[in-house]
Amino acid sequence: MCHKHNYIDFAMEERNTTLGEFIIENQNSFQYSTGELSRIINSIRLAAKVVNYKVNKAGLVDIVGAAGEQNIQGEDQQKLDVFANETFIQTLINREIVCGIASEENDDFITVAGADNSHSNKYVVLMDPLDGSSNIDVNVSVGTIFSVFRRITPVGTPVQAEDFLQPGINQVAAGYVIYGTSTMLVYTTGHGVNGFTLNPAIGTFYLSHPNMTYSEDGKIYSINEGNYVHFPQGVKDYIKYCQKEEGDRPYTSRYIGSLVSDFHRNIIKGGIYIYPTSSKAPKGKLRLLYECNPMAFLAEQAGGKASDGFKRIMEIQPTELHQRVPFFCGSKKMVEKAEEFMQDAQ
Ligand code: AHG
Ligand code: MN
Ligand code: MN
Repeated sequence: MCHKHNYIDFAMEERNTTLGEFIIENQNSFQYSTGELSRIINSIRLAAKVVNYKVNKAGLVDIVGAAGEQNIQGEDQQKLDVFANETFIQTLINREIVCGIASEENDDFITVAGADNSHSNKYVVLMDPLDGSSNIDVNVSVGTIFSVFRRITPVGTPVQAEDFLQPGINQVAAGYVIYGTSTMLVYTTGHGVNGFTLNPAIGTFYLSHPNMTYSEDGKIYSINEGNYVHFPQGVKDYIKYCQKEEGDRPYTSRYIGSLVSDFHRNIIKGGIYIYPTSSKAPKGKLRLLYECNPMAFLAEQAGGKASDGFKRIMEIQPTELHQRVPFFCGSKKMVEKAEEFMQDAQ
């Protein structure tokens, strides 16, 4: 058994492309590439490994002290979402490869000037550093979501809000890290979606899921059905449609409550994820810039679809950093069906 595992590890290293190799190989496919985008993906790769290490130790907090308490050295224990936020921000700042960062955890965006105060970088990164963080305590997978845009204000000047408030169609890269039974980094630069699995023994990501695609139709629906009474009529009708015995229905219901994990399962198995508006959350819960836009870019690159129930997520012109939107995302035919129900209930 042990030998077999060693052999698999060895075979993986021998034959599989590493993320580092993949980034280098694909750099030339970007027009006018200066390697800046590649360096951003590289820093995300590094920060992901650091956060992965910490997330995997989270179960030990009961032994070494819970967040909010002091550790043995008298230092305050950091909450994991704060830790993830600082790790991704610091890694991007230290490498001086972005001109600005916006995070779900920060009220305002961060301006990155560079050591020479030149503001000479051309990309901004937006992120949800720890998605599904309420699941940490119960050993359920969490993730990091990121989105990259080229700035629209002139290089050499400090970034402005408008550099972040761009519609999703302008994204040059997006992806997520899932800290799960194994840790994966899944991303797109607009040429399909590729997934890399971390071999924790040697700290290397390997290309394990090349060219990820949604099946055109699926059999899984993912929604927090506990809020049913608060949902708009179109969503209620679509849920009833999913549950009806007819053809390949009823569908299976799967909801983790961690967008990254629910999305990851659905892209692999085929399905739809819905976080609608409700009377409790009239604009929905998920954030357009940190959660929906990057997932929508991945979904479309994987042959799927993402909408707010009526229109394409990536065409929405954002007006504020922490804006929320309803989110319907997954296999193309399923999203189209849900949109039909939304339209009919208008
Ligand atoms: P976050 O942990 O970044 O605040 O995001 C949580 C989000 C998302 O991951 C998940 O799909 C959704 O909240 C779950 O919300 P409900 O508990 O309302 O279903
Ligand atoms: Mn989130
Ligand atoms: Mn979060």
